[in-house]
Amino acid sequence: MSQGLTEEELKLEVSNLRKEVLALKQSEKVSKIDLAEMNQIFQTVADGVIVIDKDFNVVRVNETFTVLSGFSEQESMGRKCYEIFPGALCHTPGCPMVRISCCVERVEYEVAKQRRNLTRIPCIVTATPLRAPDGELLGIVENFKDISRLKGIQEDLQQSFEKFRKAMGGIIHAISLTIEKRDPHTAGHQRRVAKLSRAIATDMGFSWDRIEGIRMAAAIHDLGKIHVPAAILSRPGRLSEPELAIIRIHPNIGYDILKGIKFSWPIAQTILQHHERMDGSGYPFGLFAEDILEEARILAVADVVEAMSSHRPYRPAHGIDKALEEISKGKGMLYDPKVVDVCLNLFLKKKFKLE
Ligand SMILES: [Fe+2]
Ligand SMILES: [Fe+2]
Repeated sequence: MSQGLTEEELKLEVSNLRKEVLALKQSEKVSKIDLAEMNQIFQTVADGVIVIDKDFNVVRVNETFTVLSGFSEQESMGRKCYEIFPGALCHTPGCPMVRISCCVERVEYEVAKQRRNLTRIPCIVTATPLRAPDGELLGIVENFKDISRLKGIQEDLQQSFEKFRKAMGGIIHAISLTIEKRDPHTAGHQRRVAKLSRAIATDMGFSWDRIEGIRMAAAIHDLGKIHVPAAILSRPGRLSEPELAIIRIHPNIGYDILKGIKFSWPIAQTILQHHERMDGSGYPFGLFAEDILEEARILAVADVVEAMSSHRPYRPAHGIDKALEEISKGKGMLYDPKVVDVCLNLFLKKKFKLE
């Protein structure tokens, strides 16, 4: 190769070769540092990570994965992924390897994985493809985030919330029992109104939680009547104006009793507004249409239907037909038209019964 070269040219050639060797050594050193750094990151990650080839063989695991699965690095290598860390999606079309082979670029899901000691560990699994520089799929990388602590906290919170709800329900029940002791008639009325309100709210597509709030408000909506002398409540015949005025403050009394309790539903407000009417002719504030809570608009219809269809101390029952006629006549004027339609449908098509 050096035949015919002058001494000068030979020196230059040698110098160039030295430079090339130096550059190669340098690049090898950098690669080694990069590799060590990547390996350090891989081993330090707080999630379990494994690399699997296309035939489901485990080719690499990090330390966190060995802790999660219970299998050491040596025990994991070359084994099938579904043998050492199985989950509900193994051998199904939902398996990340199957999905990524069909061109999905990223798979993420929550699943309980089975450990070596057969206990289960809830994980969020994230899987991505591992590709050669030419794009050929070599396998996948799977990341397992252990969410058992998070699940524990969620369960504790759920239990506390359930206890809180039960306590709230207990308060409502205690109030309704108190009313029943003094005024059995109102207690029966409230029970039936609660049943109808719940059915209306359900058919209107309200959430389970909101239906529960409406049912509770309805179950004690006339609580303020404990302020009305029993003689007025049970007296047959027409009431005088002053007597009516006393009865008409029962929504305010109920509100005052409940306003200090931090319910997770607008119970006190619903009770305060249950005699309001869409055209502003109701009491105590004469609120109009949308200014009245939807909960109170449902309660208003259920209240009128129950009150008219059943017996009162001062008059016999008008019957359900009269009650439905009343809400039909007042639809849009006094009562929310959507609520009226749902209520009519309940009685006429679904054969709903108050008792
Ligand atoms: Fe009332
Ligand atoms: Fe009522």
